[in-house]
Amino acid sequence: MRRYRLPLPTVIAWTFAFCCLASAALSQVPTTATNVTLEHLDPTLPPVLATETPPKCSVLVLQHVFADTTGEPPAVANYTHPPECPYPWPRVVLELSISASDVQKDRIAAVWFDGAELLRTATPLPMAPGTFWTVQKDVTRYTALFRLLSDGGSPAGVVSMMLENSNATLPAKDIYRRPADIILPVSQDDGECGSGFWFRIENDTVVPAAVIAIPRNTQRAVLEVFVSYHAHEESWYANPLQASYDGGEAYANGGFRQIYATVDGQFAGGHIPFAVIYPGSINPYLWSPVSAIGAFNLPAYEMDLTPFLSLMLDGMPHEIGIGVRDSQPYWLLSGNLHLWVDAWSDAVTAGVVEHRAPPLKLNRHGEWRNSDGGSEINAEGVVRFSGWVSSSEGNITTTVRQKVKFRSQVEVQNRGAITQVEMTNKERTTITMMKLGQQTTARVQVFVETPLQLHKSRVTAMGGAVFEKARLSHQLQEVVNLNENGQAIGFGALTDRQDAEGSVLRREGQEQTVWGSGSTRSQYKYRDGTTCYLRTLTAVEGIVKADTTSASCTSVTAEEA
Ligand SMILES: *[C@@H]1O[C@H](CO)[C@@H](O)[C@H](O)[C@H]1NC(C)=O
Ligand SMILES: *[C@@H]1O[C@H](CO)[C@@H](O)[C@H](O)[C@H]1NC(C)=O
Ligand SMILES: *[C@@H]1O[C@H](CO)[C@@H](O)[C@H](O)[C@H]1NC(C)=O
Ligand SMILES: *[C@@H]1O[C@H](CO)[C@@H](O)[C@H](O)[C@H]1NC(C)=O
Ligand SMILES: *[C@@H]1O[C@H](CO)[C@@H](O)[C@H](O)[C@H]1NC(C)=O
Repeated sequence: MRRYRLPLPTVIAWTFAFCCLASAALSQVPTTATNVTLEHLDPTLPPVLATETPPKCSVLVLQHVFADTTGEPPAVANYTHPPECPYPWPRVVLELSISASDVQKDRIAAVWFDGAELLRTATPLPMAPGTFWTVQKDVTRYTALFRLLSDGGSPAGVVSMMLENSNATLPAKDIYRRPADIILPVSQDDGECGSGFWFRIENDTVVPAAVIAIPRNTQRAVLEVFVSYHAHEESWYANPLQASYDGGEAYANGGFRQIYATVDGQFAGGHIPFAVIYPGSINPYLWSPVSAIGAFNLPAYEMDLTPFLSLMLDGMPHEIGIGVRDSQPYWLLSGNLHLWVDAWSDAVTAGVVEHRAPPLKLNRHGEWRNSDGGSEINAEGVVRFSGWVSSSEGNITTTVRQKVKFRSQVEVQNRGAITQVEMTNKERTTITMMKLGQQTTARVQVFVETPLQLHKSRVTAMGGAVFEKARLSHQLQEVVNLNENGQAIGFGALTDRQDAEGSVLRREGQEQTVWGSGSTRSQYKYRDGTTCYLRTLTAVEGIVKADTTSASCTSVTAEEA
């Protein structure tokens, strides 16, 4: 992720396990933390709560030591699911246990299964040698990939994992009730040869695409896109509108980006990315040992492509593209196309009803002189896609409507000594399914709001010492509502909030810190019809001072009151 300097010759050991659960459960694979001291944490909803029964079985998929991986292909392993746990599985959890034996920079890593990405994650930047951490992700929705083996197809799936090198440089529950039948990667198909399966995006003029033929009986399609940002884009949310040069490199294009998808070149939906703050960004002491929101499991972005199925049901290959609006070098993207097929017919028919996709109305305003100035970007828009699919389930029209309101302000004063960033994004996406000739309708509503405030100041003292202070508050709020025939049938609400402040001392012109301090308060609160989960963590000077978890709705309600 970092821009310069070779990675330190460090050794990272990864353990990685799948747990096929016969009943809802928590996998408990012990970390191989032999020579490690400090655990890094990312408070999120555990894929399986502690009150549920343990997993039926788990299998170690890959164990690997990563060091300087420059130019190295991903680590690979063959995977076969455990014979004592045949398909179907009520739940599958991916667990990644990692230990780092030395101080190293933060890096981006990904895990793929036959080229389909399962996880994008960042590694912490430890403040002292010896650290370990665990990432758990509910991967039940990828069952179609793990299941293939039991059908007597290929002998084994191939699991690949790659650490993006340093020198080149939601937690909401699944809204689709059952996992897809087929998952097709939208990624670089020769990824195992060294570059990884991700597409590298350097600007908005080239939209990389995968050429994909889908079954003619596909009745629902959802594209999921994983992203991470690097080099000049590592903190895109704080980029000025006009290029500012740091070490001869240009940070520019302002604090707005949009991830989008295309079908045969036609815009098919987009999202403004959540600004995950990397472990080495702003002040690394803020993120040790509690990582920034989303850092261990970077959010993926979903586009419902069902309204576009009529373009793709001819059995011929079509281009599914993924891009980043206003990007500079560089972003790493890869996607998965989730497909649900009609089990009762070989082919379905489909048509377009509406494709209304005016580009977001962007209003950019900037005034810069050398490194100082201010930029403001406002983005607003509504898109609406609608299409019908006639299958054995009936003739169902799917309408996707998305409304976006975004604002970014970046101000730099005192010859670059003071930076202030304010950003907020509000997105409301509604997916409606209506069956022709019947009253049945189903509706999914997802509302996301992500305010970010950052204040940084820098004082350069005599002798080339640079003292930096930072204060930040950041929140990811997501509310999902499921509705059937006008009746609420499901609900989920997440509020993940962090408030952090701290200082670092550096030598002028050096990235490495001489000294630092930080305190971070995190509150992760998830609530749905049956579950309440609240975790509050306070870390001061690298030590967890308070860590409370509550599964009681009453205490959550009391806290809210
Ligand atoms: C940790 O590992 C390093 C290098 O392998 C070794 O020198 C050191 O003694 C170990 N520390 C402990 C506490 O085992
Ligand atoms: C995976 O299995 C294939 C076929 O049996 C074999 O050629 C390959 O070497 C195996 N890969 C690994 C990493 O074990
Ligand atoms: C990383 O640095 C090495 C050594 O300077 C160089 O050979 C390699 O090409 C760089 N990797 C990338 C992806 O730029
Ligand atoms: C855009 O990126 C591509 C590589 O993805 C590069 O070949 C092309 O020159 C770039 N265009 C501009 C205008 O920078
Ligand atoms: C499905 O319904 C749409 C209108 O909602 C209609 O235009 C289309 O002809 C119907 N398709 C079939 C195969 O009945």
